[in-house]
Amino acid sequence: MTDIASVKDKYSEQITGAADLKMLDDIRVAALGKKGEVSMMMRGLGQMSPDEKKVMGPALNGLKNEIAALIETRKSALELDAMNAALASETMDMSLPVNISTGTLHPVQQVMEEMAVIFSDMGFTVAEGPDIEDDFHNFAALNFPPGHPARDMHDTFFMTPDADGEQKVLRTHTSPVQIRTMINQKPPIRIIAPGRTYRCDSDQTHTPMFHQVEGLVIEEGTHMGHLKGVLMDFVSAFFETDVDVQFRPHHFPFTEPSAEMDVRYERDGAAIKIGQGDKWMEILGCGMVHPNVLRACGIDPDIYQGFAFGMGVDRLAMLKYGMPDLRDMFAGDTRWLGHYGFSPLLQANLATGLS
Ligand code: PHE
Repeated sequence: MTDIASVKDKYSEQITGAADLKMLDDIRVAALGKKGEVSMMMRGLGQMSPDEKKVMGPALNGLKNEIAALIETRKSALELDAMNAALASETMDMSLPVNISTGTLHPVQQVMEEMAVIFSDMGFTVAEGPDIEDDFHNFAALNFPPGHPARDMHDTFFMTPDADGEQKVLRTHTSPVQIRTMINQKPPIRIIAPGRTYRCDSDQTHTPMFHQVEGLVIEEGTHMGHLKGVLMDFVSAFFETDVDVQFRPHHFPFTEPSAEMDVRYERDGAAIKIGQGDKWMEILGCGMVHPNVLRACGIDPDIYQGFAFGMGVDRLAMLKYGMPDLRDMFAGDTRWLGHYGFSPLLQANLATGLS
């Protein structure tokens, strides 16, 4: 067997000589990778006598740890060099004038910021999650068991299965952020989660990518009255006028009881006026978090209750700012963006107005 000290010297010399991170990683693979030299030496332990093993086992382990430590040290040094080089070469001219006549905030961005302002005033913070989700967060933990018919209603986009057979999805709603939050945070919880969502659907009122804002509150003694109060306050603040609402019973697997909230509206020629009138329009889904969902996240439903809601941002933007076709929102037409966009320097706030 190759002498341990000479192997160590060989790699230590190579590591010191590694000129960049790529070279260093090649050395790591050659020494410690699955088929690396040190790994193969360790595999040889199996054929040794117990006495040999007693000596060679710790020696090889020591070799492995020493090489790993040398690689780590060299890696930190190379990373520092790379950062210093970038800092020295990249410059920014802070004295250039800002051109605010061409750049605008997309209405979806504007509306998400308006929502964040309203909910942060009620003590909510903003949470985020990934667009590519696994089955557990998008479905199973939200009380959609495998084969549940409600899964089919989501028109899910499936990713190609990974090497280990796991099939991820493009999240069909922002509700998986509820799960991520409840697993990582202890109650009391009060969050909203704005973000992109995806369903295989396209017409005048549906696009395959759209936006939702999710809300979640978990606290002892929370009840439906809190849910209603929060959402009623929200819509009036959002539409900047008194808005009459009604709650209709509905079904979602992850809430019980569940409801949809409608706002009163009327048509004024081609325009839609939200607030008063004799028609009702559905704008969000909501309900009390299902005990199975709390349990899936390690929260005891006998102690904590909570409510959740989810709404389509694009639709709310269309209603508030009068855009007729949802598809225009994502067409990237600069004339449309110039017309419907918002000044990036005017920040939404409750004191001087949201928009
Ligand atoms: N996730 C639901 C949907 O996309 C909306 C919802 C969220 C309903 C939270 C209830 C509670 O349709």
